[in-house]
Amino acid sequence: MGVAIIRTGKALPELKVENQRLTEMVETDNQWIIDRTGIEARHVATKETGLDLAVAAAKEAMQDMDKDSIGLVIVATVTPDMLVPSMGALVKRALGLDNAIAYDINAACSGFIFGLWNAEALMKTHGIRRALVVGVERLSRITNWEDRGTCILFGDGAGCAVVELLDNKAGILSSFLKNYDDVSDCLTCGMEYLKTPFAEDTEKDMYLRMSGTQVYRFAVGAIEEAMTAVLEKAGVKADDVKYFVPHQANMRIILSAAQRFKQPIEKFQVNIQTTGNVSAASIPMALTDLMNSDKVHSGDKIMLVGFGGGLSAGAILFEAV
Ligand SMILES: CC(C)(COP(=O)(O)OP(=O)(O)OC[C@H]1O[C@@H](n2cnc3c(N)ncnc32)[C@H](O)[C@@H]1OP(=O)(O)O)[C@@H](O)C(=O)NCCC(=O)NCCS
Repeated sequence: MGVAIIRTGKALPELKVENQRLTEMVETDNQWIIDRTGIEARHVATKETGLDLAVAAAKEAMQDMDKDSIGLVIVATVTPDMLVPSMGALVKRALGLDNAIAYDINAACSGFIFGLWNAEALMKTHGIRRALVVGVERLSRITNWEDRGTCILFGDGAGCAVVELLDNKAGILSSFLKNYDDVSDCLTCGMEYLKTPFAEDTEKDMYLRMSGTQVYRFAVGAIEEAMTAVLEKAGVKADDVKYFVPHQANMRIILSAAQRFKQPIEKFQVNIQTTGNVSAASIPMALTDLMNSDKVHSGDKIMLVGFGGGLSAGAILFEAV
């Protein structure tokens, strides 16, 4: 019995913000951003809610699929529209998925990998036939647009995979997750609660804060560890993987993974140029681009690999159906 990704979808907000626009807001320049990150533009939600994006991605992935066959909705996000109901519950309601249980997870930029890992385990244990795993973010709402060290990096969007329990195919071959303690708080974002008459008010900090160099070093090591682990677990060589779909945080991190595993960069699905880093939505959006490209054939081995806040990292190796 296996669990396979059978369809994917993605959605981006209408507004595309080119690097040039950011040079009018902070002291930076287009070429610096491209050279250090690979990013040329990102999409920013103006009127779209996270739910709008998640539902659009899910609809694209489901197409004319029987709604009643969906038994599980997992939404990975660090920027939910509301605390209650969860984004999962909102997606379930919006799509009329009467048979689904639904909830959110937060594993930052590794969220989609953690979500897929949850889905695989629950589907096998409980015989759930189909699930939606969604990554959705509006990072523009936690970005400090006056901080040139972070505002150049992030964007908004959503991606979704429909996963199915199969009797006779492997689908997911191996998975690996790991949490590392962020002892120096190198990647954080606070949140605000209402005041209470019973407690002293404390300083609130709601921005995403990052020590870029520290996170960069962590990312290069974590991506290598996760990729090595899933290959070893499945007994597969990097050369036998047809495509790699990495988290889109920095082009140089992707290049370093390609070099480390002696793989041509063409085997890595890259869309960071036009999306920036969209945290939990990065991998399912890039996977959708790969699946829509007609490059993937049944039996191809594909690796998803992510890393991010927590700190966290994970990879999943699967066979295309
Ligand atoms: C953020 C990042 C692009 C910065 O690149 P970097 O090569 O590490 O650059 P540094 O932070 O060392 O800064 C180098 C110089 O550029 C400057 N700089 C920083 N941001 C800049 C910007 N947007 N434009 C121009 N200059 C900038 C710095 O102030 C520094 O100047 P100084 O040498 O005079 O002090 C890079 O560290 C990175 O991508 N880190 C990982 C981020 C990530 O993956 N986050 C998400 C994890 S899921």
